[in-house]
Amino acid sequence: MTPTDKDRVWIFDTTLRDGEQSPGATMTHAEKLEIAELLDDMGVDIIEAGFPIASEGDFRAVSEIAKRSKQAVICGLARAQLPDIDRCWDAVRHAERPRIHTFIGTSPLHRAIPNLTQDEMADRIHETVTHARNLCDNVQWSPMDATRTEWDYLARVVEIAIKAGATTINIPDTVGYTAPRESADLIRRLIADVPGADEVIFATHCHNDLGMATANALAAVEGGARQIECTINGLGERAGNTALEEVVMALKTRSDIMPYETGIDTKKIMHISRRVATVSGFPVQYNKAIVGKNAFAHESGIHQDGMLKNAETFEIMRPEDVGLAATNLVMGKHSGRAALRDKLRQLGVELGDNQLKDVFVRFKDLADRKKEVYDEDILALVTATAADGQQDRLVIVNLSVQCGTGGPATAELEMEIDGREVSATCQGDGPVDATFKAVRELHPNTARLQLYQVNAVTEGTDAQATVSVRLEEDGMIATGQSADTDTVVASAKAYVNALNRLLVRRDKAGPGSDAKEISYKDVS
Ligand code: KIV
Ligand code: ZN
Repeated sequence: MTPTDKDRVWIFDTTLRDGEQSPGATMTHAEKLEIAELLDDMGVDIIEAGFPIASEGDFRAVSEIAKRSKQAVICGLARAQLPDIDRCWDAVRHAERPRIHTFIGTSPLHRAIPNLTQDEMADRIHETVTHARNLCDNVQWSPMDATRTEWDYLARVVEIAIKAGATTINIPDTVGYTAPRESADLIRRLIADVPGADEVIFATHCHNDLGMATANALAAVEGGARQIECTINGLGERAGNTALEEVVMALKTRSDIMPYETGIDTKKIMHISRRVATVSGFPVQYNKAIVGKNAFAHESGIHQDGMLKNAETFEIMRPEDVGLAATNLVMGKHSGRAALRDKLRQLGVELGDNQLKDVFVRFKDLADRKKEVYDEDILALVTATAADGQQDRLVIVNLSVQCGTGGPATAELEMEIDGREVSATCQGDGPVDATFKAVRELHPNTARLQLYQVNAVTEGTDAQATVSVRLEEDGMIATGQSADTDTVVASAKAYVNALNRLLVRRDKAGPGSDAKEISYKDVS
């Protein structure tokens, strides 16, 4: 990667760092490895895999992702402190192409946190970037809250970081404050005025607080930035980061006015979007650009008529280009295992023989209850089948619920807990409440329900419901998911799935572990 690649825009994905850092989006180790592999396969240039000093889990994930990386540069985040940088290097050094990303908040508000003067901070930047560069020849430096940093000071510290050996200078709009023209001007001015700026790549890192992250990132490219930092589905702190799928498809679709290339295989977008939604427990809004359920749906008669005559009437992108199946092979109870494997491959899912066997059993069960099984139903089945590679300690054996108008609902639940069959009958305010109470009676716990969300995967009254449940206990968060044509059954399974994940986490964390993660905002 050299600064002479003028028309190539490097895609830096931070789903596993900035994205995973957003409250409630915590992923398991296995999920992080899976997402990293999908990012690498889709052609992401740089994967920010985590924040190694933040927790033992982050360190392990970054190290493992580094070891398994194929094409992508693997980057870890470090505060402007020598032990952070050393820890980061220990994790990323296993990669074929490692990168250390170190940062410090440079705006007046952020300088006040560690209580450093401008000069003291400048010295710290020189010291930490030099240290990082002595360890690794690929160093990214970020002045956090750059867009609210005084111009003179920003130019000064960017020059210091370049002189100390940074190879990429990232300009974060940490609080989503900038606007497109300002975003372009800032990068343009830095490149024009800072000595040595033409020797490095400038990056843009935008947050979406005012809904302008994608526009600001693209404007920064117009201003000379050649690295866009982004996340799948725009996951990230508060309102999120620039969405990868949006910048990539904007550059592809409007190459007439933005003649820049990325290395992304856009056909892989839909699959990774769905996986990230599932493992993070953050569903994609229906009308989200590119990856929303309705992004390529046409409902009105006029639109449907136009589409049938010429798809370009109402579509500026082809659904196939983002990995949506153009033709829908109908799957049903007569479909065999080979057809299911073939369908899964079309959907970008490759399963081992045992996993396929499990999904096939669920598929047959669903096909018996549902006339047509759609692509989305099948993906929901795969999601529901994917465990953390652990034997579940809590298993639902049978659930029957009685409810009607006016009275409480009653749930009779049989479960297997660590191999022992137990049962309970509970009443509640509606069928889900009664069921969750029964689970709690059989497995008493203090986990707090942070999120309970039901989505219909496909249309019709026989549609599968996918249920997401997010639980929090002692600072640990786990998300469970399940799909079933019966919403109460899906809810029970999702709840138990989340409890199983909490148990796995608690076992892994052990007594006294730092399972509660620190935030990069704790800079001192
Ligand atoms: O938003 C931000 O400023 C960040 C930095 C750590 C780059 O995420
Ligand atoms: Zn950020």
